[in-house]
Amino acid sequence: MATGSSGDGRGAGRIVTIFGGTGFLGRRIVKRLAEQGFTVRAVSRHPGRVRDAVSSRAGVEPIKADVLDPRQVAAVVSGCHAVVNAVSLYAEHGERTFERTHVKAAGDLAAASRDAGVEQFVLISGVGSDAGSGSKYIRARGRGEDAVESAFAGALIVRPCVMAGPDDAFLTTIVKLIRLLPVYPLFGQGGTRLQPVYVEDVAEGVSRLIADGGHNGSRIFEFGGPRVYSYRELLQEIAFQLQVRVTLAPMPFAMWDILAAVAEFLPAAPFNRSQIDLMRQDNVTAIGVPGLETLGIAPRNIDEIVWMIARSR
Ligand SMILES: NC(=O)c1ccc[n+]([C@@H]2O[C@H](COP(=O)([O-])OP(=O)(O)OC[C@H]3O[C@@H](n4cnc5c(N)ncnc54)[C@H](OP(=O)(O)O)[C@@H]3O)[C@@H](O)[C@H]2O)c1
Repeated sequence: MATGSSGDGRGAGRIVTIFGGTGFLGRRIVKRLAEQGFTVRAVSRHPGRVRDAVSSRAGVEPIKADVLDPRQVAAVVSGCHAVVNAVSLYAEHGERTFERTHVKAAGDLAAASRDAGVEQFVLISGVGSDAGSGSKYIRARGRGEDAVESAFAGALIVRPCVMAGPDDAFLTTIVKLIRLLPVYPLFGQGGTRLQPVYVEDVAEGVSRLIADGGHNGSRIFEFGGPRVYSYRELLQEIAFQLQVRVTLAPMPFAMWDILAAVAEFLPAAPFNRSQIDLMRQDNVTAIGVPGLETLGIAPRNIDEIVWMIARSR
């Protein structure tokens, strides 16, 4: 659980722009920074979607801009103290490719921030990002980190593990389906190791990095929860918490690949190939990389989050 705040009022007179400021993580960063007195520009293509969640807070300015549009980007980073890129894209559509969004636009946003005299730049990436990966998505995330580091000297890279919270796309789906299905399909044998982290803890970590101007010169942070589970163990734990009986059935990744490829044609795809790629490799923090504890945050236990989700449904 996040312990304390990183200092109310410390942001007074400073502007922070959050690209993806209406997202699952971004809107929580917006809220925290606004509470600390920062003026926050919450940027997305549809700022009205969660207007209630962010714009009702004093000091929050919802702004409509596309990270792919250099003119809009230059306008919104102007005059800022810090910029955070919390934009997501898990499935490609037309010109919205991983390369365009996670590499080119990420690098361009960092360069525009540098040119505008922004002091701090934070890229929200993901644990396991790897420029040499065979997965198009994971490769783009790794290349995006490189592009940001080249464009903005001293940029901070924050890599969260899979994030959980009452409105997430991960645990909420599991909680819903595990109550419905007598047999629950595993990704492969269910051996992938995961370290789910509470989204509010990640938001607090990012806010502290901005309010404190970084942490001891470290540039890469990996934020994970307090415990590592195999996917199978995680499902067993959730079933135990919810007191439901479920049979876990291994399902080959090749089958998931086919299902995901088909699902991507649906208007609201329940999952996509990037997520299957992410489930193929362990999603845990690396030893020796600064994390939440380094910033004085004790990450919240998954049991509490399962209950939060279960109660909210
Ligand atoms: N969720 C997780 O478990 C998890 C784990 C590890 C890492 N991450 C990373 O953390 C970051 C935030 O994830 P999230 O779960 O908060 O994502 P999210 O809920 O999908 O939110 C994404 C945000 O980006 C905005 N956005 C998307 N395309 C945009 C564009 N072209 N221009 C401007 N804004 C755009 C979205 O708003 P509009 O659609 O209205 O533009 C939304 O505000 C992402 O980089 C993600 O890969 C997430």
